[in-house]
Amino acid sequence: MDPATSPPGQIRQLRPSDRCRFGEHLLRLDRGSRRDRFNGAASDEQMRAYAERCFRDGVTVVACVEDDRVLGAAEIHERPDLVPPTGEIAFSVERAWQKRGIGGRLFERTIAHARAMGYTRLLVTTHPQNLAMKALARRFGADLHFVQGEAVGTITLPPEPIPPLPFSRRPYQVPGN
Ligand SMILES: CC(C)(COP(=O)(O)OP(=O)(O)OC[C@H]1O[C@@H](n2cnc3c(N)ncnc32)[C@H](O)[C@@H]1OP(=O)(O)O)[C@@H](O)C(=O)NCCC(=O)NCCS
Repeated sequence: MDPATSPPGQIRQLRPSDRCRFGEHLLRLDRGSRRDRFNGAASDEQMRAYAERCFRDGVTVVACVEDDRVLGAAEIHERPDLVPPTGEIAFSVERAWQKRGIGGRLFERTIAHARAMGYTRLLVTTHPQNLAMKALARRFGADLHFVQGEAVGTITLPPEPIPPLPFSRRPYQVPGN
């Protein structure tokens, strides 16, 4: 697909078998995007190790996937040290696909996943000059403040309403069968 046309890709959670696709996405990030994402230079070796670690540690990764290629990703890292249940989120969109709404679509889906997982607070951290990330975080209701030279956005999530289960004694029917 031509990057000039949008919106590209399907937004979905990555499966365990997507680990290499996620790693390849991180390797395609240019130097500036890596610096913005990881707060400093990040080598190819570090990118590979990071992708491995995310999947090994059960980080939730939501991505924009097109033709088996991850164009952008959002990660939810649990922060078990914090109360209330808090997830730290981080975003990466490849340069050629930035400013086409992928970040916003990933953010929306990430919030839905986080609510479904019972998080009631999300944190997003970036450097104060990262205008795109700050604009995105504000759009999704982040309260931005500055801590030790970093911009930290806090998003409070209302708990997800749990719909009552339909009461049925009949065996489950696979839709379409
Ligand atoms: C930050 C990032 C995820 C945004 O992704 P994206 O797909 O470009 O985001 P979108 O197209 O959905 O739009 C982002 C918002 O930033 C704004 N924006 C983009 N570039 C901007 C810039 N240079 N200055 C000001 N605003 C900018 C857009 O207008 C949009 O604002 P809106 O939500 O008010 O409409 C992407 O730029 C990226 O991956 N950067 C490198 C890694 C990074 O910085 N990660 C964040 C650290 S966690």
